[in-house]
Amino acid sequence: MKSLRIGLAAAIVLLPSAALAAEKKANSIDELARMYDVSSCKRCHAKVFAEWEKSFHATSLIGSPRTMATIASTVKDGLLKEYTYSGAKEVKDLTVEHLMICAKCHLPQLKDATDAVAREIAQAAIDGAAGDEQAKKQLAKVGINCLICHNQKALIHKWTDGAIDPNAVYGSKEGSHPDSKFTRLKKSATLPESIMCGQCHGLGPNFELAEPTQCATLYGSHLHAYVPSGGNKSCQDCHIRKDGRGHFMPGYRDPAVAKSAVKVEVNARGYYFLPKAGDPVPTAVVTVAMTGQAGHRIPDG
Ligand code: HEC
Ligand code: HEC
Ligand code: HEC
Ligand code: HEC
Ligand code: HEC
Repeated sequence: MKSLRIGLAAAIVLLPSAALAAEKKANSIDELARMYDVSSCKRCHAKVFAEWEKSFHATSLIGSPRTMATIASTVKDGLLKEYTYSGAKEVKDLTVEHLMICAKCHLPQLKDATDAVAREIAQAAIDGAAGDEQAKKQLAKVGINCLICHNQKALIHKWTDGAIDPNAVYGSKEGSHPDSKFTRLKKSATLPESIMCGQCHGLGPNFELAEPTQCATLYGSHLHAYVPSGGNKSCQDCHIRKDGRGHFMPGYRDPAVAKSAVKVEVNARGYYFLPKAGDPVPTAVVTVAMTGQAGHRIPDG
């Protein structure tokens, strides 16, 4: 009896907000792109915007474009073949939950969309991987943009910091902000720390999912190998602040970043020794020491 009452009370409290959330859900990629529109930011933050536009974050459903192809095979060779338990035999049966095994990090805002958007993304990834440029353009409309990092993911400890303010951009200070929708500036303790990036850059398998996936595990390596062995740089130090890399946040595809990944010391010595008189053995010893200089193991992803 007691547990029934608790259940009812919870249902009463939850109903209004669930209804509100349902009202707001995006029904197409275009609607989701409008919901998370960042075109206004370009006017005043032109440099940051230009760097971000070229980053893999901006097109996180396409990537190198290995991501688009892998989403396509996840759907075709994974989810749809596993229909006995996944419940999805065709693209039209897919739900947001199915796509979240990738979108958890590649498109967190999918939580604000209906199953129709999950299906549109799955079909566009399949078509895009088969060479359809229009489908690829559609996928490029959504990605990890300003609002994901400076709003949605800017607070981690909700019982300490409270809920995200939907009309604020989070940065390094408090105040007012001249954007017409995001009118407040709020300070985020998370933003300048590695944990900010760790939210997506992986601790290991995502065991909380019904079908765990393991994509990037680099933040685990950063925490458990780099920091304990004396590393004191953050993700932001190496990927944003260093050499003005900014919001491009490059990985190995930037030659300067790749070059700094490993320190190689080669020590070669040629000599000979004499096992017996008149019969010298020519000998060479090459000692190669390779030291990882990244803030985590490589490669990743
Ligand atoms: C919302 C999730 C999310 C957050 C937060 C996030 N990333 Fe990423 N990041 C990704 C995903 C997903 C990719 C891969 C996109 C692709 O190629 O498909 C990526 C790619 C990258 C790459 C590879 C870029 C390249 O050119 O190869 C780097 C470097 C990177 N992120 C650094 C960072 C740093 C530094 C932070 C913190 C300031 C951060 N990321 C925060 C999800 C995230
Ligand atoms: C992957 C996460 C991520 C995305 C996407 C992102 N930012 Fe940032 N941004 C950061 C982090 C982290 C910092 C703090 C960097 C530091 O501490 O050195 C920052 C700093 C800033 C700053 C202050 C410092 C500066 O460089 O001027 C501005 C302004 C800013 N971002 C605007 C934007 C805008 C506009 C966009 C979209 C075009 C955007 N950001 C997209 C993570 C992100
Ligand atoms: C009309 C101009 C304007 C527009 C539009 C605008 N910003 Fe800003 N933004 C500013 C100004 C001015 C500041 C304050 C800079 C300062 O105090 O150093 C600021 C500060 C910020 C900061 C905090 C930087 C820090 O130092 O921590 C972030 C993050 C940011 N804006 C993101 C955005 C995003 C995201 C958008 C789009 C949704 C956007 N801005 C749209 C003018 C604008
Ligand atoms: C001490 C500097 C340093 C720190 C700290 C650091 N990185 Fe890196 N990172 C690098 C270098 C150098 C590379 C290039 C490695 C290569 O050539 O493969 C790299 C590569 C990457 C890549 C591309 C993956 C790959 O296989 O190369 C991603 C993603 C990335 N870093 C994210 C992060 C995140 C997230 C953090 C914080 C948890 C972080 N990095 C901390 C230096 C650093
Ligand atoms: C825990 C968060 C997370 C999940 C879940 C996740 N990814 Fe990733 N993924 C990342 C991050 C972060 C990177 C960038 C790291 C790097 O490049 O080393 C990445 C990189 C990739 C890359 C290489 C990037 C490129 O442009 O070539 C592919 C491919 C990829 N993901 C596909 C997928 C697919 C498909 C799924 C779902 C089955 C998935 N990921 C699930 C976080 C995640």
